[in-house]
Amino acid sequence: MSQTRLQIDGRQVSAARGATLLEAARAAGIAIPTLCHHEKLRPYGGCRLCVVEAEAGGVARLVAACVYPAEQDLVVRTRSVKIDKVRRTILELLLAHAPHSPQLQELAREYGADEDRFGKDASFCVHCGLCVRYCAEVKQKHAVGFIDRGVRKEISFVPQIAAGACNDCKECFELCPTSYLQAAFVLVESLAFPRQA
Ligand code: SF4
Ligand code: FES
Repeated sequence: MSQTRLQIDGRQVSAARGATLLEAARAAGIAIPTLCHHEKLRPYGGCRLCVVEAEAGGVARLVAACVYPAEQDLVVRTRSVKIDKVRRTILELLLAHAPHSPQLQELAREYGADEDRFGKDASFCVHCGLCVRYCAEVKQKHAVGFIDRGVRKEISFVPQIAAGACNDCKECFELCPTSYLQAAFVLVESLAFPRQA
């Protein structure tokens, strides 16, 4: 298979053609934080936590590593004062919505994010879309989806599908970076298809 050669954090690395920067970095043992990425799912680019600096022709841009292609001769930096500041701000915004997420709290410690920088607006779901995409792309059930848009956007189980599909699956539960998904399922289960005692 033909390879693409690029530089990441000062190291020459090679990546399979068509690989993303995230895949190229991980294959070289270089860690980039992610939230909405899952290796079984199509690239999504929703959370921007994987932001890195990519330089080509002397021009550097901030890009999302999970969707940006590993291009020949690209010079990539995964950590810098600027990158860390962007990640810190993203984490501070996410923590306003999901202050109890262990995954976000751990990243907040690593990046020195202030958990109280923004007023709490706990919606618990951080719209990573992992549950929705996993159910659609991997399980092909579409038992959970997004409803509404913008600030009103939220996930919702489709009771008619969830009643038949979810009890023997629940694979999405462990993907959720907050406790929202499980709570939403318990709610729809108790309202729409309560288990028999
Ligand atoms: S419920 Fe959890 S997994 Fe689903 S979109 Fe919200 S945060 Fe992501
Ligand atoms: S992990 Fe890349 S945008 Fe979310």
